[in-house]
Amino acid sequence: MSSAIYIPNDYRYDNMEFRRCGKSGLKLPAISLGLWHNFGHVDVLENSRNILRLAFDKGITHFDLANNYGPPPGSAEENFGTILREDFKGYRDELIISTKAGYTMWKGPYGNWGSKKYLVASLDQSLKRMGLDYVDIFYHHRPDRDTPLEETMAALDLVVRQGKALYVGISNYSAPQAAKAFKILKEMGTPCLIHQPKYSMLIRWIEDDLLGLLEKEGVGCIAFSPLAQGLLTDRYLHGIPEGSRASKSHGFLKKDAITDESIRMVQSLNAIAKERGQTLAQMALAWVLRDPRITSALIGVSTPAQLEDSVGCLGHPPFTSQELNKIDEILN
Ligand SMILES: NC(=O)c1ccc[n+]([C@@H]2O[C@H](COP(=O)([O-])OP(=O)(O)OC[C@H]3O[C@@H](n4cnc5c(N)ncnc54)[C@H](OP(=O)(O)O)[C@@H]3O)[C@@H](O)[C@H]2O)c1
Repeated sequence: MSSAIYIPNDYRYDNMEFRRCGKSGLKLPAISLGLWHNFGHVDVLENSRNILRLAFDKGITHFDLANNYGPPPGSAEENFGTILREDFKGYRDELIISTKAGYTMWKGPYGNWGSKKYLVASLDQSLKRMGLDYVDIFYHHRPDRDTPLEETMAALDLVVRQGKALYVGISNYSAPQAAKAFKILKEMGTPCLIHQPKYSMLIRWIEDDLLGLLEKEGVGCIAFSPLAQGLLTDRYLHGIPEGSRASKSHGFLKKDAITDESIRMVQSLNAIAKERGQTLAQMALAWVLRDPRITSALIGVSTPAQLEDSVGCLGHPPFTSQELNKIDEILN
């Protein structure tokens, strides 16, 4: 239990921008916080707590989890549940909490992929770990080749009807897969709220056809890993620092992703950020948010200072076309 009692900042909504999620009634903060790394039992709980407190104080109302976040799997939800109980009691109605199922969670044939058996059981486990009656958004985490899409979408529809989730989403689905899922969900009367794809200056596949589809269908888009797990920040400008994600054995950013070529590219991007009066992290987030079809940029942070810095992406002047062209030249 933390010694100091947390009292949220009265002015927490003054500087956050909220964007409507597709054509739904729900607005999300332009910056949302994900708990994939830095919230597991391997991490320091007080640091996780300080990050969540600062996030809420900055107007970040949306926290994104998944059954398997940790390590060990499930521990991010457990820690989040502890902090919710101790610090955020009385603020549940100001929060949008999401979780997902789709990757390996437990042994045997019912702890992975997209069956109704797995999804329903997993959400029940997630609710227990977080100490919640319901989540705001429940996602299918990745497409499953072997389960009929009708069954997976029926599981999403079911949990909404059971009152265990208010809205549903999909993640990592291609545009054709997403189009099929949207149609099935619409026919069942549980429209898809949101798609969660990977999107950053370095990974741009959603620009081809997914963003157009989402706009047409009125589905929101929350972009994960907008900083390419830290590559699009000042973290690796001079190698791989101690304590960074690429330096940790359980980190998902592998050392071999930090090549001389990628560092040179990041240095060139950093020079443009400096000219704009931003840090590279701020410029990379502003770049993701330059497209109004992006509802929210879903960031990770390992310290409160990084959060403070990243939220500073809001409020800078928009990109000029010359700046966008220069960035494209560096990326190509
Ligand atoms: N649906 C999916 O399949 C999926 C997959 C991946 C992620 N996600 C979601 O997306 C969220 C974010 O993913 P991510 O953590 O990869 O996002 P990210 O924002 O691209 O990367 C976060 C990392 O960047 C570094 N960083 C952040 N802000 C910084 C700043 N201002 N200055 C310097 N370094 C900074 C930190 O690295 P250090 O740790 O090295 O300090 C931090 O851990 C996840 O938590 C999860 O909710 C979803």
